[in-house]
Amino acid sequence: MKQQKNADKNTVEDRDLIKFLLASVTFFFIGTVHGVLQIQPPIRAWLDSIGSPYGGPGHMIDPLAHAHINVVGGVVILCMAVTYYLLPRLSGQPLFSQRLVNHTFWWTTLGICGFYSTLMVFGIIEGNLLLQLDHEGVAEVHRLYTPIIAVVSTGMGIGFWVFFINVLVTAKTIYKN
Ligand code: HEM
Repeated sequence: MKQQKNADKNTVEDRDLIKFLLASVTFFFIGTVHGVLQIQPPIRAWLDSIGSPYGGPGHMIDPLAHAHINVVGGVVILCMAVTYYLLPRLSGQPLFSQRLVNHTFWWTTLGICGFYSTLMVFGIIEGNLLLQLDHEGVAEVHRLYTPIIAVVSTGMGIGFWVFFINVLVTAKTIYKN
């Protein structure tokens, strides 16, 4: 009976926010495993030998991939869900668009998946080529990296901007009324 009452209070829209929480927990898990692995002596020595944290392929893995999977995947996606949950409750106004809530989720989540995996895959490939002193190979692979990282970064950026638009248009209706 108590559970049913609670469920009724949560709108169908709120259920759309569950996936944000699950994604945030998943990205924190990946980010923390990444963090523990990158400090293990053999891995740490390998990352240092390919430029981490200052530049080159090592920098792509630590700190770029590690920082973004935690701050964007873990923190920002959680903040998006909290904002979408609290704003209608604090203002008494519904969100401008529920469709934009789902667009926020999918662009940001697929964006950070693409951003992280691109940094990791190219960081490892270019790092190993660098250790073989194959500088031409590194340059060749990096030519492929540049457009891919630009596309996934833009996807992630669209997730942020859709979120900003949805919140700001909702804010406009709050202060207009
Ligand atoms: C669409 C979203 C974002 C994109 C495309 C993006 C992209 C980047 C790129 C390309 C760099 C590396 C610059 C370099 O070569 O040194 C960078 C660095 C960094 N970003 Fe982001 N970023 C985004 C969002 C964020 C957010 C929301 C945060 C924090 C809340 C963040 C925290 C950082 C930090 C801490 C660094 C510096 C890492 C270091 O070198 O120590 N980023 N970001």
